Amino acid sequence: MIVWVSGASSGLGLHTACQLTQAGMTVVAGARSYREKEGEAENGYRLYLDVRDEASMDRFVKQALSLYGPPDVLCCCAGVLVLGACEDYSAAELRDVMETNFYGQALMIKRALPLMRANGGGKIVLFSSVNGLLAVPYQGAYTASKHAVEGFAEALRMETSPFGISVCVVEPGDHRSGSAKYRRHAATDDPANPYYEDYQKTVARIDHDETNGSDPDVLGRKIARALNRKRLPARLLIASPDQKLAVLLHRLLPKKLFARIMTQYYGKRLK
Ligand SMILES: NC(=O)c1ccc[n+]([C@@H]2O[C@H](COP(=O)([O-])OP(=O)(O)OC[C@H]3O[C@@H](n4cnc5c(N)ncnc54)[C@H](OP(=O)(O)O)[C@@H]3O)[C@@H](O)[C@H]2O)c1
Repeated sequence: MIVWVSGASSGLGLHTACQLTQAGMTVVAGARSYREKEGEAENGYRLYLDVRDEASMDRFVKQALSLYGPPDVLCCCAGVLVLGACEDYSAAELRDVMETNFYGQALMIKRALPLMRANGGGKIVLFSSVNGLLAVPYQGAYTASKHAVEGFAEALRMETSPFGISVCVVEPGDHRSGSAKYRRHAATDDPANPYYEDYQKTVARIDHDETNGSDPDVLGRKIARALNRKRLPARLLIASPDQKLAVLLHRLLPKKLFARIMTQYYGKRLK
């Protein structure tokens, strides 16, 4: 099975690519940090890829095709998280998050679809998040991008099913994958900012939850198992029981009550 994985240089993308390789799949791994490290990897290949740059996506596709032919699977893991108050995001930060997390997936999928159709079918895995289903304070831009992914995937699934293409949205909860290094705090981090105190408490809670989060290799193995099925499940919510409960409560509770529970949880100072 030939799998193209975007965002495979670190975090969940890297763990997923490793687990797919261990399951015997051939992985073409893409990321920006492969610029100087392009070349053969264990049962696959590493290629430079910037999902905000169409020329880079075209180059990736051309090279991946010449290496192994059309993909059986496209797995879009590339993503960025910028923490900050909704009010504080700059236009550049909003664009960066949407370009990477949403357009980056949509435009890779656009390139894979004709190849999969010509090949008689395929599988597409989009990376959403629990934040694709509910919002977390100070993750407004990220939450918006993941909600966009959810809506796009739903339409995509209906359109591509007649061509034998199945679509799965992966919705991870907190995982110990080290994404903290990619965060850029917005103006909210200034002590003079009106959100400053609440923001600090929320960031501490987010750090705590990620540090104590789920095992990323387990997520990679779940994706590998799903890919070995004839058709993908529509969604894979891979989260702790309390995060799954939050998703359920978000659906059931009045919006204001849910918001109060969430702000209390994130605003609670950690001991
Ligand atoms: N970690 C979690 O707890 C968690 C929870 C829910 C959802 N997720 C989702 O899982 C995915 C991976 O997240 P992570 O936390 O594991 O993040 P991470 O460790 O920061 O990894 C992000 C990956 O995306 C790549 N990337 C970023 N911008 C890119 C671009 N423009 N073009 C190509 N690749 C790009 C990075 O590679 P380069 O920098 O080398 O390009 C890296 O490989 C994301 O979609 C994220 O939203 C993660």
